[in-house]
Amino acid sequence: MLPRLPVCTLMFLPVLLAQGSTADSPDKSPPPISRPPPPPPGDPSWTLGLRLYQALRSDSSSVNTVFSPVLVASLLGAVGRGSAGTTASQLQELLKSSAPSKTVTQAGEVLLESLKSFTASNGSSFHLHVSSAVFSKETPAISQVFLKDAQGKFKLQHHPLGKGDGEADLKQLRAWAEAVLGGLEGAPSAAKIQAKAGALILANAFRFKGLWEREFSEESTDRRTFLGKKYTKVAMVHRAGLYHFHEDVENMVQVVEAPLWGNKASMVLLMPFHVEGLQRLDKLLSVELLSKWLDKTNKTSLSISLPKANITSTLSLQEELSALGLTDAWDQKVADFSGVSVKSKGKLHLGAVLQWASLELAAQAGKEEGKQQQEVEEQIQKPKLFYADHPFVILVRDNATGSLLLMAALDHAEGEALHDEL
Ligand SMILES: *[C@@H]1O[C@H](CO)[C@@H](O)[C@H](O)[C@H]1NC(C)=O
Ligand SMILES: *[C@@H]1O[C@H](CO)[C@@H](O)[C@H](O)[C@H]1NC(C)=O
Ligand SMILES: *[C@@H]1O[C@H](CO)[C@@H](O)[C@H](O)[C@H]1NC(C)=O
Ligand SMILES: *[C@@H]1O[C@H](CO)[C@@H](O)[C@H](O)[C@H]1NC(C)=O
Repeated sequence: MLPRLPVCTLMFLPVLLAQGSTADSPDKSPPPISRPPPPPPGDPSWTLGLRLYQALRSDSSSVNTVFSPVLVASLLGAVGRGSAGTTASQLQELLKSSAPSKTVTQAGEVLLESLKSFTASNGSSFHLHVSSAVFSKETPAISQVFLKDAQGKFKLQHHPLGKGDGEADLKQLRAWAEAVLGGLEGAPSAAKIQAKAGALILANAFRFKGLWEREFSEESTDRRTFLGKKYTKVAMVHRAGLYHFHEDVENMVQVVEAPLWGNKASMVLLMPFHVEGLQRLDKLLSVELLSKWLDKTNKTSLSISLPKANITSTLSLQEELSALGLTDAWDQKVADFSGVSVKSKGKLHLGAVLQWASLELAAQAGKEEGKQQQEVEEQIQKPKLFYADHPFVILVRDNATGSLLLMAALDHAEGEALHDEL
């Protein structure tokens, strides 16, 4: 059954409209620093994103994580529309909002808006390459109605997998991801795939490069030490400006939010005051605390230093999603994807949910920016320091919908190894 979603207005729109620019700043650079809307508490990308982040990071040996909550949610949303019974209710439970006033259908609409907004900002605030697909392994014929809906609304393409074994399947999946990402260098290899006949494999692959509103100039790049899992020598970029900034003294965490080019999205960086791994910060993170932090940031003269790192992840999310309550979908005997294929009984089930992701943290500067940048920098007085020479967390949120586009953690920056004693 494919439920039709009624059109509804976004509940948090009034909040967005009520946000005014308050600060009187001496900053005369052309793009004004405006404050994006607070995270909408009812947005499934935030609730699912934070829960997935915690699940992924509960293993303290994890090194560098990046994923897109909006894109994972869109995969689940798409198959959710072809499901029924407890399979459907478990999927809905995962995607539903934490705000009691929001219904499942409203959460679904929010998700579609977020997805639209994500791709619409491509080319201004960031460069995005993304593909989403459902792969089918020797399944009964897939419903054209389902495919049309999944393609139209969620940009999900359909690719049948060959008759080969798990290794052949993985090869086909990797080739697909490689085409989207333009290579898989640095991407950890995915877990084994053991797709039985009747399996549906959901996958996203994306490459994201955030464009800072004031870019980092080439001259400001130098080599410094990054105190991550290993100590490494990395290229670091520096930039001073007025940024939304907050220091949570109690939790010893610095919070900075920087608008990306064109103000369609912003990047939030969270970093412990002192050199430490991210386990403590990871455990603190919740939608409530993040809202509070973002709310408390205010325009501050800030000097930001960041490693020019790329974060890549290959995620297979079955374990994490199961732990969050999605159990029936994987089980051939109980999974109900009757909207995906009428002959689904006892066959169709989820085989895997995969995401290949790559994030380029500090993009190259544009040439003509240099002069303007210097002028702005001169107006910065006694800046506070956000010196990212140790692990930190990154969020990218959409300005128009407030949704959580990306979430990442940098535990280690690739570079020439240093001996521990400096
Ligand atoms: C981003 O958000 C700010 C503050 O809410 C708003 O003034 C601005 O118009 C938004 N920009 C875009 C491109 O939507
Ligand atoms: C984003 O823009 C680039 C360059 O114009 C294009 O190649 C790419 O397909 C776009 N991505 C999406 C998701 O639209
Ligand atoms: C802005 O931040 C500073 C330092 O973090 C704080 O002392 C000040 O009270 C804040 N101002 C407002 C208006 O919140
Ligand atoms: C990050 O990736 C981009 C694009 O693939 C590449 O040009 C750049 O050199 C990489 N940076 C680092 C530090 O590896």
